[in-house]
Amino acid sequence: MKKRIKNNTYWVGKVDWELQKFHGDEYSTHKGSTYNSYLVQEEKNVLIDTVWMPFAREFVENLSKEIDLNKIDYIIMNHGEVDHSGALPALMEKIPNTPIYCTANAVKSLKGQYHKDWNFVEVKTGDSLDIGNGKTLVFVEMKMLHWPDSMATYLTVDNILFSNDAFGQHYATDLLYNDLVDQCDLFNEAIKYFANILTPFNVFLRKKLDEVIALNLPIDIIATSHGVIWRDNPMQIIEKYSKWANDYKENQITIIYDTMWNGTKTLAENIAEGIRLQDKEVVVKVHNLAKSDQNDLITEIFKSKSVIIGSPTISNSILHSVAGFIHLVKELKFKSKKATAFGCYGWSGESVKVLNTLLSEAGFEIINEGHRNQWNPDDNAKSEAIEFGRKIAQA
Ligand code: FEO
Repeated sequence: MKKRIKNNTYWVGKVDWELQKFHGDEYSTHKGSTYNSYLVQEEKNVLIDTVWMPFAREFVENLSKEIDLNKIDYIIMNHGEVDHSGALPALMEKIPNTPIYCTANAVKSLKGQYHKDWNFVEVKTGDSLDIGNGKTLVFVEMKMLHWPDSMATYLTVDNILFSNDAFGQHYATDLLYNDLVDQCDLFNEAIKYFANILTPFNVFLRKKLDEVIALNLPIDIIATSHGVIWRDNPMQIIEKYSKWANDYKENQITIIYDTMWNGTKTLAENIAEGIRLQDKEVVVKVHNLAKSDQNDLITEIFKSKSVIIGSPTISNSILHSVAGFIHLVKELKFKSKKATAFGCYGWSGESVKVLNTLLSEAGFEIINEGHRNQWNPDDNAKSEAIEFGRKIAQA
């Protein structure tokens, strides 16, 4: 059933309570997600975005109970990714000639995915669409937030910004609004979304936020495409984005390792102790990579000023779990963060050097040459690891 957002604008999306993984298996969604679609019923009827493909039939059926589909005058596709465009093929079977307003890049992505020559109308920043009752939809390209085709749509008079992925969270709720949900859950999911999806595009994001602020649009509601709608102080999430997009870090050091026979684990715990002994203020977190959620670890790195990565030496190199994880970290293009490495070894002991090389290539400032320990750490080796932790705290 449609839910009124404001005046003649309604939510007609889908809450996906059981989603555990997104982007294939790349992104963990511990709290499910939502695919928010909106119906604006002024003199013209406008559908903004749809839902993910598995819910396409359900979406079209539900929508047809709310409105005669033939009365939809315009479809706005803010972004071509399948979680928002997935119901288009089913919908367009019913209303094949309805114009689809989107960016030129979205035409490419929609054609590339669905191989249909629908009635596309390309729009650019500043283009607008009169929908009657004195209201207009204004389009704002949001290139690289997070795809080249992304855009936002602004509804005048009601002052609603349909922001698509920007300001979203993978957070299933039927309470709809930011002021009605658990704030801790909400901001955990919002920062995780930012850290894992938007971090590589910080430069674009900073420019875009400045551009949106300069437009001076009154914004009463930010209607995202995932999670809650920001109606209570909607600018708070824009302010958070401004902070997060500026090489964000807290007073936190995160230690992440994998281990074969617990030697590297022992080093990790003693390094953490050394940091704490040296600096009572800093937050120190220790995670065994093999027993942790990788996207949650990315969020911890996002919050950290320094990251210390550990792996034992295996076959003159490092554990593939750690190599794969650093690859993920590298993709995110973190800036202004420091790192170093540690690990146990039995024979040749290359892991620390390999780790520091990979961390440097991933854009981290390397603190020092790292810390190696041969065989299982004894009391002396534990003291050395504590001393290494102290030096990192000083750095
Ligand atoms: Fe929610 Fe980029 O799709």
